[in-house]
Amino acid sequence: MRRFIVAGNWKMNKTVEDAKTLAREVVDQVAGVENVDVVLCPTYTSLSAVNEVVKGTSVGLGGQNMHWEAEGAYTGEISPAMLLTTGCQYVILGHSERRTYFGETDATVNQRFRAAVAAGLTPIVCVGETLEERQSEVTEQVVRRQVSGAFESVESGDAGVSIVAYEPVWAIGTGLTATPEQAEEVHAIIRDELSKLYGEGLAGKIRIQYGGSVKPGNAADLFSQPNIDGGLIGGAALDAESFAGIVKAAG
Ligand code: 13P
Repeated sequence: MRRFIVAGNWKMNKTVEDAKTLAREVVDQVAGVENVDVVLCPTYTSLSAVNEVVKGTSVGLGGQNMHWEAEGAYTGEISPAMLLTTGCQYVILGHSERRTYFGETDATVNQRFRAAVAAGLTPIVCVGETLEERQSEVTEQVVRRQVSGAFESVESGDAGVSIVAYEPVWAIGTGLTATPEQAEEVHAIIRDELSKLYGEGLAGKIRIQYGGSVKPGNAADLFSQPNIDGGLIGGAALDAESFAGIVKAAG
């Protein structure tokens, strides 16, 4: 039985003060929800401050990206140890915005993935097709390639505790949500690809979140699908009540 996980990806939003306020509201509003892992992923500048709010609570903390090197001349980048020392347990990797705007590839996602698990961080690896790819009916190939690319040379022990987020690019921030059936179809493909890599038993343990215009009103239907194990939430995570509503839909 996989435990649900709902994570808020705050993207490039919220100053430190606003981030602390939002984190406090989320902690209050999800208190009492016991069977869902809840994670907040603020910007780097707010990680320590949000950690002060969430530590000692059931709410976890994650980064939005991470470099694979331990240190060095990589202006603008953050290392695994830096995330760990701010209190992070999780890190989002390969988000489509990183792939589209910052040149991330399956190969660099894999480097980040291997560095994250080596450091003891839990990666949330994002995969998903563009609208053009969906319309050209190559969703399955694209997603299988992204999954096998991300997990390349990752040991089964590390793979088993990692998380995949299926985020169809056409559904991110557009208000267009994949229907529960459309999402489930791709989640089943992702699990099948993980089975090919690690066997059915281990693949059955890996949690696969859905992301893309999840709202309190559509979350329960998405989360009722057999291979959907929670959500990675963008816009709706910037409002505590909406985010908590989504967490409760998983609970
Ligand atoms: P939205 O929920 O705003 O569509 O964003 C989804 C997302 O990209 C989460 O990582």
